[in-house]
Order: sequence, then structure tokens, then C-alpha cells
Amino acid sequence: MKRFKLRDLYNFIKIILEKLMGLDFSSIISSEEVGLDPRFFYRSSPSGGKYLFDILKRIDITEKDSIIDVGCGKGSAMRTMLKFSFGRVDGMEASEKIAESAVNNFKKLKEGRVKIFACDATDFDKYEECNFFYFYNPFPCQVMLRVIEKIKLASQNLDKEIFIIYNNPICHNVIVNNGFNIISDFPDEWGNKIYLYSNSLTSLRI
Ligand SMILES: C[S@@+](CC[C@H](N)C(=O)[O-])C[C@H]1O[C@@H](n2cnc3c(N)ncnc32)[C@H](O)[C@@H]1O
Repeated sequence: MKRFKLRDLYNFIKIILEKLMGLDFSSIISSEEVGLDPRFFYRSSPSGGKYLFDILKRIDITEKDSIIDVGCGKGSAMRTMLKFSFGRVDGMEASEKIAESAVNNFKKLKEGRVKIFACDATDFDKYEECNFFYFYNPFPCQVMLRVIEKIKLASQNLDKEIFIIYNNPICHNVIVNNGFNIISDFPDEWGNKIYLYSNSLTSLRI
């Protein structure tokens, strides 16, 4: 109980400090507030930081790699991705209002490697431009199935290893049933785990 309260206080201070800098990565926004149906679009809340950093640092990432945060919210996890040598760090977000917050955040930080797409993940048609995909529990399994099928199709034309990082992997079965292999699992901030998948059986890059 005490730890929970301390975390709340930490998040509150973080939000205030961001506000003072003209940023907003960490405030939570419900799906209803932005006109999305909560049965299919989960709320916008931040991830990233130490837990994502610890996973990415195990992989030999170069500027030939591109990552997309599928359901990027305001860009919190992308901030961690930008600490690595990815050639591109993209984000895609269903809510135009939330996507606008992400655009404003990175404009303020003068971050040139970022591109934000205001788009539904089931309509997105540029999956073949990325070989790393990050999900922080953005939607339920029926949506995940449609997205993974698109990623699988796009990846068949790529001669690069594909990585999927799935934070709070409630639709783990959908990922493995579509031919991705679990490489490792990691802790997350809330005790839900983060899974790392690849389209190779044995990853040569970890
Ligand atoms: C839990 S937040 C994750 C935010 C960000 N990935 C992070 O980790 O900092 C999930 C986000 O996914 C978005 N989302 C939900 N369904 C989506 C869909 N079908 N297409 C694109 N974005 C979606 C939500 O609007 C929300 O902002």
C-alpha cells in the first residue's frame, strides 16, 4: 500500500515537472475522453523508462533498424527508444488528440528522428518500413489478431529479423500462433511482464 502511494506521488511530480517544461508524456487519458470505444481501444498511459531500456540494451541495434510504437499515446515509450541508434522511431496512435500531444512533445524536444501517424493500427499500411514493433497493451485480442496478421504479411517481404516487444502481453497466444517465437521475458513496473518475440527461432542479435 505504501509503495503504491509513493509511486502515485512520483507520477504526480513527474507530470508537474513535465508541464513546467511544456511537455505532457505522462498524464493518463481515458478512451472515452477522446471519443474512442474502451472495448476496442485501451486508455492512454505511459510506459518506457528503465524496463524498456533494459530490454533494448541487450539487442545490437543499428541505424538500419526502425521501431514503431503501435498505440504510442503521448510518446513516453518512444522517448526511451530514442536513446538507441534506431534510424527511425515512429509512433502510431488512433486518437488524433493524443497523437497531437505526441507531436507537440517531440517538437518541443526538437527530435528529428520521430514520425507520428494518427491512424488506427488495423488500417496502417507502412508496417514493412519497420523491423521492431512495440505494444504496451493498446487493444484486445481481436484487434491484436488483425494487426499481427498485417505485420506478419509485411515481414514476409523483409530480409531482416523482426522483433516484437509486448508489454503486459495479454494476447501472447495471438503472437505465437502467428509464427513469432518468444525469445525472453522481462519484468515490468507493474508485475505484468514484457515479452520479446522474434520471427527467428534463435536470434543472432541478442
Ligand atoms: C497503454 S497506451 C500506451 C502508450 C505508449 N505505447 C507507451 O507505452 O508509452 C495505449 C495507446 O494505444 C492507443 N490505441 C488503442 N487502440 C489503437 C488502435 N487500434 N490503433 C492505434 N492506437 C491505438 C490508445 O489510444 C492509447 O493511447
